[in-house]
Amino acid sequence: MGTVILGTGSCLPEKRLSNHDLEKLVETSDEWILSRTGISTRRISGKGEEAFQLGTTAARKAMAMANVSVDEIDLIIVATMSSHMTMPSCACFIQKELGADNAFAYDVNAACSGFLFALDSGDKFLRVEQNKKILVIGTETLSSRTDWKDRNTCILFGDGAGAVVLEYKEEERGVVASNLFSDGTLWNLLYMHAASSSNPELEQPDNPGVHILMEGREVFKYAVKAMEAAINDLLIRENIEMDSIDLMIPHQANIRILKKLVSRLGINQEKVFINVQKYGNTSAASIPIALDEANREGRLKRGDLLLVCSFGGGFTWGASLLRW
Ligand code: UT7
Repeated sequence: MGTVILGTGSCLPEKRLSNHDLEKLVETSDEWILSRTGISTRRISGKGEEAFQLGTTAARKAMAMANVSVDEIDLIIVATMSSHMTMPSCACFIQKELGADNAFAYDVNAACSGFLFALDSGDKFLRVEQNKKILVIGTETLSSRTDWKDRNTCILFGDGAGAVVLEYKEEERGVVASNLFSDGTLWNLLYMHAASSSNPELEQPDNPGVHILMEGREVFKYAVKAMEAAINDLLIRENIEMDSIDLMIPHQANIRILKKLVSRLGINQEKVFINVQKYGNTSAASIPIALDEANREGRLKRGDLLLVCSFGGGFTWGASLLRW
């Protein structure tokens, strides 16, 4: 018995921004970006491609694959940190677009780990409310939270959305277990201010605007160690050997982080799904986009063991195991 993924969907903006395009914006080169990050191009939203709009399209595709109608959806959880409004939530906008009148909806912000955290919340919800169906969506327009003059960050991020439909089934598959963590003491290694405060007492004079700021090297070091420990702990706890994993879908942040993680874990590289070269780091959207691509490419068969892991601002990180 478990929380099963009935369908997956994703949506990427039309516009591609290549490394050569970035050479015209900041002092950088295709060679530097490719060798340091593995990223060649990323998608950037245009008009009509806000986070809720990308998320809505991804959700429709996931529901079509799942053969689930919008009236059957009881809950919509959206992982994002780049919705066009702080309130209402992105989830409420998606609910409105879908016409999901029977669903309640809310957002989760766990930065790049948002989808994993939202998936865990969805799993826990369904274990209690067993006859319901829910949407879990990761959607981001980080292009609207990027300082396009900062070469340290503007080369990294992209826009996109991915979604899954979940249902609790009396079958020996679904979410097996999750191992999630946060450490707020390390917030200042990767962060983004809110808009300036209208209360002078709370105004932060050093607020540079709503942009992602990062100590790249520190993030790199923590990311590898933290994901490695979360995965190894989870496998020990569940008594599962690394060789039993059929597919690993990590958060797509940077090819060097992924290569280092893969070599430390000792997992066969061919079992690791990577698409960071096409989309850059899409934060909370990266895992569900990759999951949808892997699924549609036929990389997942019934009974396969899937490992997903992530790391992001907070810090937040973790790993989950799913039986497909
Ligand atoms: O979900 C988690 C999100 N965050 C991440 O995944 C980021 C993790 N960190 C990283 O991926 C890497 O730290 C980066 C790709 C961000 C940077 O690579 P690095 O090898 O750690 O480079 P660095 O920051 O140590 O910078 C090395 C040099 C510096 O020049 P100097 O001081 O040595 O003269 C930078 O100014 O590279 C320079 N540099 C660039 N040069 C060309 C920084 N950004 C660029 C750029 N183009 N875009």
